[in-house]
Amino acid sequence: MAEFNDWIAGLPKAELHLHIDGSLEPGRLLQLAGKHGVDLPYADEAAVTAACEFDNLDEFLAMYYLGASVLRDEEDFYNLMMDYLTKCRTQNIRHCEVMIEPQTYADNGVPIDICMRGFKAAVNDARREWGQSCLMILSIMRHAPEEEGIKTLKAAEPYRDDFIALGLASSEVPFPPAQFKRLYELAASQEYRLGAHAGEEGPPGYISDALDLLHCERIDHGIRCAEDPALVERLAREQIPLTVCPLSNVRLRCFNNMSDHNILQLLDRNLCVTVNSDDPAYFGGYLNENFQALHAHLGLDKVQAARLAANSFTASYLGDAEKARFFEELEAY
Ligand code: ADE
Ligand code: ZN
Repeated sequence: MAEFNDWIAGLPKAELHLHIDGSLEPGRLLQLAGKHGVDLPYADEAAVTAACEFDNLDEFLAMYYLGASVLRDEEDFYNLMMDYLTKCRTQNIRHCEVMIEPQTYADNGVPIDICMRGFKAAVNDARREWGQSCLMILSIMRHAPEEEGIKTLKAAEPYRDDFIALGLASSEVPFPPAQFKRLYELAASQEYRLGAHAGEEGPPGYISDALDLLHCERIDHGIRCAEDPALVERLAREQIPLTVCPLSNVRLRCFNNMSDHNILQLLDRNLCVTVNSDDPAYFGGYLNENFQALHAHLGLDKVQAARLAANSFTASYLGDAEKARFFEELEAY
């Protein structure tokens, strides 16, 4: 076990499904609550950790949005991003794609310029200091009306070059992809790459609709595809990447236990599945801990782990030359 975990720690890999607000650790959360005088129902870090028990996605999201309400100024956003990028460095996450959710901050009276100044400064510093590769994804809240998402896309226009892609997150049911067609058409016209959460709690039809109505090239989670054999075949044939988040899926009760998780079955069927942490500060682990849990409970071996790491670069929004550089690193490892 220890030998495998050490090997995973050194494995070059990419993380493609990470909500930056989900990397807000209890210590930083309480520090910022104190700084800005935000009243939280947690006496100490242990109380925050103890509160991370969820029966479903919406229960988690209530805590997640409360947590994000402590983020107020440029320094907060800088530190949040730098905390995560530093974790990438220690976990050998050679490339990451980070979801940014400006609607959450706007709801707390914080304009997009404040968060983007902080996030961009951290990304630039990490790139300069240790060559961290990082892309940002503009993630839209599906619990809000499409019109709000369109306003956010418009507010993000000055930052068009800072976002590689558009995403769709938050409460999944009953907010089907069909409700966001205009938003995705607009984003496509601005040449955003397109992804969306689908098939986490929502039915397999949400995955098909994300592909056919929103023209997504990548699906976040997608685990409920297994309920529709024709969809599984399609995902394999078209090599549509799924950014799967094992610890998240168990914490949010998509699976009762890690031993019930279907990621290795999907890998066996030749789907382009990847491993990701989603909201590591809330779900008990970063990327390496997700790989370790798959090893401990599903017997993930090195060959499978290397395939998952290769998929993570294949499924990234990087260009071919950058992907080739990471494949070489992986090959050498
Ligand atoms: N936002 C943060 N984590 C999420 C998840 N697992 N699903 C949907 N929206 C999210
Ligand atoms: Zn997510």
